[in-house]
Amino acid sequence: MVETIQWTADGVVMIDQTVLPRETKFVTCRDYKEVAVAIKDMIIRGAPAIGVAAAMGVAIGVQKCDPAAWRAELETICDTLARTRPTAVNLFWAIDRMKRLALSLEGKPIEEIRARLIEEAVRVYEEDIAINKAIGANGAGLVPDGKRVLTHCNAGALATAGYGTALGVIRAAVEAGKQIAVYADETRPFLQGARLTAWELQQDGIDTKIITDNMAGHFLRAGKIGCVVVGADRIARNGDVANKIGTYSVAVLAKENGVPFYVAAPISTLDLTLTSGEQIPIEERPAAEVTHVFGVAVAPDGIGVENPAFDVTPNRYVTGIITEKGVATAPYEESLPRLAGM
Ligand code: MRU
Repeated sequence: MVETIQWTADGVVMIDQTVLPRETKFVTCRDYKEVAVAIKDMIIRGAPAIGVAAAMGVAIGVQKCDPAAWRAELETICDTLARTRPTAVNLFWAIDRMKRLALSLEGKPIEEIRARLIEEAVRVYEEDIAINKAIGANGAGLVPDGKRVLTHCNAGALATAGYGTALGVIRAAVEAGKQIAVYADETRPFLQGARLTAWELQQDGIDTKIITDNMAGHFLRAGKIGCVVVGADRIARNGDVANKIGTYSVAVLAKENGVPFYVAAPISTLDLTLTSGEQIPIEERPAAEVTHVFGVAVAPDGIGVENPAFDVTPNRYVTGIITEKGVATAPYEESLPRLAGM
């Protein structure tokens, strides 16, 4: 399985997701600022992977800070990492977790604080893989045998520490012996589906076809798709789901055609402080991601562009939310807090 991110003696090593699959290149981030740039520039992306990167970013930042001023530098490190991408709540969840641990160690020798932060970041990484396996186990039974699964964006090993959330469900269904094939939405403009989902599923030998985003309705109507499974960047208390731009259209088309629409995500993607998806901040990305493909202009110079990276799917389109603790169904205001133990 592909190594998305790793803590090493040299720094935080990430596979560069901006150049896959044409190039398999690894980037080593040697300080927290480089980790922040890697998150912002989407060298690493996907909500859980962003969380792991942020945890490692805090740990590497404190390794290098002035022992006499580590408390103030921790604030700068956390603020810098928090300013990278606004939508995926796992970023803030991981930063909070690391910060709380560091503050609980105030008064201890700096060597101990540093060692404990590395341990914690590695724990966030290891837990994420275990969580994804549990999500897969909880979701595998929901995937109809002998049909295609439609997925949007990349919620796979590359978007997590490993195994994936939505792709974890697909992997678990395949491991359970089901005959599963996949339609991967291309996912304009960053092409996470065509470049990343297709790449990792092909490596696993899972039958995968890429479709452009505007083909999804056609295949949903044709009865070729047994269910849709996608990941999430943030889920509000009422079950509204922020995920990659285009997810909402897929969800509406799935409901119109009677196809179940599942969201696979860890509990750390829940933001129970938000009563609805309308409160989820949506990241706007650079216009060049839309006007250019691999540096080649595909639109006239100077044209206006909108590039929201995510959209919100209202809970009425969501058949179930598959987490490591079980599957939540409507009414989500009740089922999500129950699963989260809150
Ligand atoms: O902009 P990205 O590539 O970070 O967006 C990723 C997604 O929307 C994923 O579906 C989501 O983060 C879940 S990843 C398990």
